[in-house]
Amino acid sequence: MPRKIIITTDPGQDEAAAILLILGSPEEFDVLGVVAVAGNVRLDRTLRNARQILELAGRSDIPVFAGCERPMQRALVTAEHVHGPEGLDGPALPLPTMPVQARHGVNFIIDTLRAEAVGSVTITSLSPLTTLATALVQAPDIAGRIGEIVMMAGAYFEGGNITPRAEFNVFVDPQAADVVLRCGAKMTILPLDVTHQMRSTPRRLAALEALGNRCGAALAAMLRFSEDFDMKKYRWEGAPLHGPCVPAFMLRPGLFQGRDVHVAIETGSELTMGMSVVDWWRITGEPANVHYVRDGDADGYYALLTERVGRLP
Ligand code: BDR
Repeated sequence: MPRKIIITTDPGQDEAAAILLILGSPEEFDVLGVVAVAGNVRLDRTLRNARQILELAGRSDIPVFAGCERPMQRALVTAEHVHGPEGLDGPALPLPTMPVQARHGVNFIIDTLRAEAVGSVTITSLSPLTTLATALVQAPDIAGRIGEIVMMAGAYFEGGNITPRAEFNVFVDPQAADVVLRCGAKMTILPLDVTHQMRSTPRRLAALEALGNRCGAALAAMLRFSEDFDMKKYRWEGAPLHGPCVPAFMLRPGLFQGRDVHVAIETGSELTMGMSVVDWWRITGEPANVHYVRDGDADGYYALLTERVGRLP
């Protein structure tokens, strides 16, 4: 039986890669809906981009919902400097024709978790956590109904990527990350500590291009665009590919290593706002609230991504 998932996302090229990996794995994932949120770019753009990706993959049957357009308490910070003005720059994709659902993404999350069997729905978060946290605040009963939350968020050993101490998805909405981390559901975090190991080297991008399908070509064009910023910043052989770590972990947990630890989010200090405070050495005695992934097999990760994208149109 495929695993029922709700995707919350702010595409973004690396989120597109994650969504394509999910759509290329229909035996493992049953996507109940995609909830777009403001993050890498504004909500109107992430909503358009999410639908462009679904249509690229021939999956306009998956409903798309508008999530939150701004963080819970702070002003929105976006990342056009990485992802381009449209957020999905690189390939020329047609404007989407599929609709945005009338129901708000917060209501979709609440209704779905209440309607489905307890523990049967996984939230795959590729973005700031605003919409999920808002749902948890409005309907605290849903926390006990979530099967698992698997999220790309946070950083500890790698510092930060938007400030010296904060990872982008947490920095955009630290209060939301704090709500989610305290909700009591089972969770896994794929932080920069592991995503920085997943670098899009020329050989790995060439393998995507060589697939010969439209999804492989579009994804390679996206990643060639978005790697430009990171290559100048890090001076590595390839740019980190964050988002697909979420579905890759769900598909092949054996590719990754981590620990069950306590993680808290800084929401007070402007200097370290959004910092993930990871009790890696179990100093505090606080009970673990998260499975925190630190390492991964990059060759295995790209082989999985390439194989699954190769199954798409
Ligand atoms: C995260 O920040 C965004 O810019 C990326 O798309 C990814 O979700 C990495 O920190």
